[in-house]
Amino acid sequence: MARSEKGTEYIKRPAPVNDEPFTSNPNKEYIRRAFDEPVVAQWFQRLGRPLKYLGLPAWQMLDIVAWQRMLGRFTGIERAENQQHLMFLNANVEDLEHRLYALYGNFDDILIRGRDLYGKTPDWPYDLINLDYFGGFLYSDLSRPRAFKKLIENQGAYSRSFLLIVTQHLRDKDTAKEKDKFLSDLGERLKGGVLDKKLHAQIDKIIAWYRDADLPDAARQGLYMNCFLREFGESAQFKVFCRPGVVYLGTGKASMIHFVTDFWFEPNIAHRATSDQSVLEIINLGLLQAENEALRDRSFSQPRLQLAGSKRANR
Ligand SMILES: C[S@@+](CC[C@H](N)C(=O)[O-])C[C@H]1O[C@@H](n2cnc3c(N)ncnc32)[C@H](O)[C@@H]1O
Repeated sequence: MARSEKGTEYIKRPAPVNDEPFTSNPNKEYIRRAFDEPVVAQWFQRLGRPLKYLGLPAWQMLDIVAWQRMLGRFTGIERAENQQHLMFLNANVEDLEHRLYALYGNFDDILIRGRDLYGKTPDWPYDLINLDYFGGFLYSDLSRPRAFKKLIENQGAYSRSFLLIVTQHLRDKDTAKEKDKFLSDLGERLKGGVLDKKLHAQIDKIIAWYRDADLPDAARQGLYMNCFLREFGESAQFKVFCRPGVVYLGTGKASMIHFVTDFWFEPNIAHRATSDQSVLEIINLGLLQAENEALRDRSFSQPRLQLAGSKRANR
């Protein structure tokens, strides 16, 4: 068994993961350039300093290379051993190795346990977190949502605002029916916050539309993820600003979904933060689709909630 720097024993090394090496694709590159980069640039300007990055850049580090003028140090997580070796080599070729801090293992485990497979800890806190992973968000053990919650809480413990970019496969294994329970809770919460009882039928209709099993999962997933990020952000004292999820066909024609979300830390409060964006606005965000170097509204005819007057009514 190997030993960590402090001499304590750590977990036996597992067999290396043999993920297929990542290959990029035109839709992903378009989204990185046209959707993500302007937001990264805004953060760089607002903070007035290089952004500290945490992510899964793959050995090519295409995101880091594209945004390097706006980044300071970066932490790259990788679970495929051969890919990590290539990442070191590539960092050398790109003259970035002095800025790279590498963690080895599954990112969910690293975030939950706070250490990688060599016992190394992330270099908290970060300004830009780009989690672009294989697989969906929900599995029966719900470990991925727990990892995200931990990540957001960690950033909160350092009072550090951050930009979170998430890319995942649309298909997941939601055997615990998490999304369905979420939608039913969301409906009850919305009805509880809307005083005008006449609107309750409208809310029921919207929730039923999202719960419909025949609906392509993208709409449900878009709403679920944005509400999830807002929920855990606010609990950790962040005002959260969500953007429409972007769906696209990734490598091997896999259906992907992508989110870019601001988390602004609210100092001087001891209670939950309240975002400027309301739940109603999140429901009405809809989805975008990236295709042929363009972003267009995804043609769902999702029902939208129309409230006269206050947006505060349905927080
Ligand atoms: C989609 S690529 C990242 C692409 C990059 N962000 C870009 O913009 O070009 C994901 C990389 O992370 C690794 N990876 C995927 N899922 C992971 C996980 N759960 N934990 C750790 N590494 C993972 C893969 O081996 C791959 O090298």
